[in-house]
Amino acid sequence: MDDKKIKIGVLVSGNGSNFQAIVDALESGYIKNADIVCLVSNKAEAFALERAKKHNVAAIVLDHKSYPDRKLYDAALVEILKNQGVQLVVLAGFMRLLSPVMIDAFPNSIINIHPALLPAFPGLDAQKQAFEYGVRYTGCTVHFVDSGTDTGPIILQTVVPLLGTDTLETLTDRIHGEEHRTYVEAIRLFCEGRLHLEGRRVFINEQNTTIYA
Ligand code: GAR
Repeated sequence: MDDKKIKIGVLVSGNGSNFQAIVDALESGYIKNADIVCLVSNKAEAFALERAKKHNVAAIVLDHKSYPDRKLYDAALVEILKNQGVQLVVLAGFMRLLSPVMIDAFPNSIINIHPALLPAFPGLDAQKQAFEYGVRYTGCTVHFVDSGTDTGPIILQTVVPLLGTDTLETLTDRIHGEEHRTYVEAIRLFCEGRLHLEGRRVFINEQNTTIYA
């Protein structure tokens, strides 16, 4: 492990296709100056754990049901992540709200991907909410995590049109594809030190930007 690289910890609850996209971007060299040092799942059956093992990433199960409350669970999470030296926490389908115990331990260094154009449709089943609302456009958002539900400063967004031929499944699949590209791009920007915050606004220091395909 290279000490000069940003150490990423990924939190998941399920499939882990976003985790896979990040691993692929690291292995291909698209993201250069980072390593994933651990993946933590709150669910033992999460397929993401298998993906992590396949790529020699430490895979840890931390079951929230073993803790009496959110703060104690988050304290255990902080301990694991700090022990691994984590500098950037990436939520990749981690279906739990974080308490101030986690937020305060990693100021401006927890990011999340949400499958809608925030601030529209926060919370659960965002694709379904947008589909049923009948929007023309939805998409995905990568944002810093604050103490609200999907309310933190927005880093990147990608628009996905809702087509007349779409079912909820086809829309969800197209958003998922864009999530992978958008998350990789946001993580690359973070790891290159190119994001800075002024209030709620995230500014990107432009330099040699290549589009991830
Ligand atoms: C993704 O669609 C992600 O945006 C969503 O969970 C899915 C995880 O997919 N996250 C949220 O809804 C968080 N509020 P993945 O396990 O295949 O990466």
